[in-house]
Amino acid sequence: MKNDLWYKDAVFYQISVRAYKDSNGDGHGDLRGVTQKLDYLQTLGVDCIWIMPIYPSPLNDDGYDIADYYAVDKTYGALDDLKELIQSAHERDIRIVMDLVLNHTSDEHPWFQASRSDRNSPYRDYYVWSDTDKKYTDARIIFVDTEPSNWTLDEKTGQYYWHRFYASQPDLNFDNPKVQEEMLNVARFWLDLGIDGFRADAVPYLIEREGSNCENLPETHIYLKKLRSFLDEHYPGRILLCEANQYPEDVRPYFGDGDEFHMGFHFPIMPRIYMALKKGRYEDMAEIMRRTPTIPENCQWCTFLRNHDELTLEMVTPEERQWMWEQYAPEPRMKLNMGIRRRFAPLLDNDRRKMELANSILFTLPGSPIIYYGDEIGMGDNLDLFDRNGVRTPMQWDNTPNAGFSTGTPFSELVKGELGYQQINVASQINDPNSYFHTIKRMIAVRKKHTAFGGSSMEWVETGNPAVAVYIRQHSDETMLIFNNLSASAETVNLPDKYQKTTVDLFADHTQTLSEKLTLQPYSYLWLQMPK
Ligand code: GLC
Repeated sequence: MKNDLWYKDAVFYQISVRAYKDSNGDGHGDLRGVTQKLDYLQTLGVDCIWIMPIYPSPLNDDGYDIADYYAVDKTYGALDDLKELIQSAHERDIRIVMDLVLNHTSDEHPWFQASRSDRNSPYRDYYVWSDTDKKYTDARIIFVDTEPSNWTLDEKTGQYYWHRFYASQPDLNFDNPKVQEEMLNVARFWLDLGIDGFRADAVPYLIEREGSNCENLPETHIYLKKLRSFLDEHYPGRILLCEANQYPEDVRPYFGDGDEFHMGFHFPIMPRIYMALKKGRYEDMAEIMRRTPTIPENCQWCTFLRNHDELTLEMVTPEERQWMWEQYAPEPRMKLNMGIRRRFAPLLDNDRRKMELANSILFTLPGSPIIYYGDEIGMGDNLDLFDRNGVRTPMQWDNTPNAGFSTGTPFSELVKGELGYQQINVASQINDPNSYFHTIKRMIAVRKKHTAFGGSSMEWVETGNPAVAVYIRQHSDETMLIFNNLSASAETVNLPDKYQKTTVDLFADHTQTLSEKLTLQPYSYLWLQMPK
C-alpha cells in the first residue's frame, strides 16, 4: 500500500456502521460487523471505506453531533475493534477513512457544557456567542425544515450561540487558536490509530464574518491548509476528502495548489445525472462538467449518486429544484429541506436499465466514485422513518428475519415492500450471476483495470443526438469512448471519422468496428476502448 496517490483511481464505499451488520445481537450494527463483511467488500472490489461517525453522541444528528472526539460509542464497540477493522482491511488492501466533524460539536460535549455554564468560563470562547441574533444575517439556514435561525438563546448566560445545523450542534469558534489546536489533536489521535484519512464534514462554515454569507472564507482555507500540512508532514499517504456542497468553481479553492484537500465531492453533477435520465437529454450534465475547473494533478473529485443525506438540490436553480421535486418526489413526505429523502433504486423506479445507466455515468466520469451501502444491490428506503433515517435502514444481507442484519431487535424498522430484504438482498444477488450486484461488481472491475478512468480529461463528442451522452476519457496511452443513451427509445448517433475504428467492448471483451452511425438500445450504455 505504498502509492500516495491511491485515491485517484480508487472506488469508495460509504457505510453507516449502525446499519451495516450487528455482530453481538444488540440490534445495532458495530465495527466487528463491518470487519465480518470485509470479504464481501473485497469481492465487490472496493478500495476504501468511509465509515460514518462512530463517536459517542446523543444522536440528534445520527452522530454528527459529537460528545467526545476521543472514543468510540460503545454501541459500535471499542477502540480495539476499530484497530482490528483497520488492520483486517489493510490486509485486504482496503483503506478506511472516517468522518472528522470540525465545524460543530454536540451541545452535550464537555466544552460546550463548560462554555455555556458561565460567561467567564475558559471554554466560553470555544464557541461563537453574541448578545444579539442579528449578526451574520447573510448566512443561509441549512436545515430549513426545522431551524428558524442560526442563533439560539442560552437562557442562563443570556447570550445567543451560533449553529449552522441543529440547535443541538453549536459551532466551534475557529477564530480561537485553541480550537484550531484541539482539532489537530483529534486528527492526530485517529491517524495514530491507523485511519487512512478523513471525510471532513461541512467545511465551508468554519469561520464567520459580518457582511459575508459565512461560507468559504479565506480564513477557513488558511486553517484547512494547516490541517493538510500536518498530514503531509506526519502521515503521508493519508487523505482529506472535502464535503463542501457548492458549485465546482467554489469547491476549486478547497484543492488549493494541491496543498489543501486531496479530494472533494462533486455535488452539482449528482442531481444533473437524475435530470438527464428524466429528460432523456445530457445537456445539463455536459454544462456542469464544462463548468468544472481543472484541479491540481495530485487531487481528485469524488462522485456519487446517493449518500446518507437527502438527495440535495442546493446546487441547482430554483426552477430546476421545483422540477426535480415534481419528478422525483411525487409525495410531499419525500421532500426534506432542499432535497429528496429517497434511495437510489426507488428514485429510478427500480428499473434495472436506468439503474445500470446511472452507474455507467458515475463510473466513467472523471473522479473516484463512491457507492452508498446497499445501493450496490438496489435496496429500498422507508419513508415512514423520520428525517433522513429512511435511507439509513439495516443492510439487506439475506432473506432470513431482520435481513440477516441482526439476531436481536434492529434499531430501526427495515425497508418494506418490493425493495425489502425478502426480494432484494446480498445473498440472492451473489448467487445469481445475472444480478444487479454482479453488474456493479463488473463495472468496478473494468474501471479498475484501466487507468483512463482515473485521469482528469473528459471530452464531449458531438454526434447530433442530444439524448446520447458520448465522451472520451483519455489518460496515458488509453482512450475510452463512452456512450450513454438517456432516452427510453433506441437512438442513433453520427460518429465523426476519427472514431470509426475497431474498438474493444470493455464488458463483452470482443471487438466492435464502428462506422458512421451507431444505434443504442433504450437506456443502454457502451464502454469502448479505442485502438492505441
Ligand atoms: C453533513 C452531513 C450531515 C450532517 C451535517 C451536520 O452535511 O453529511 O449528515 O447532518 O453535516 O454535521
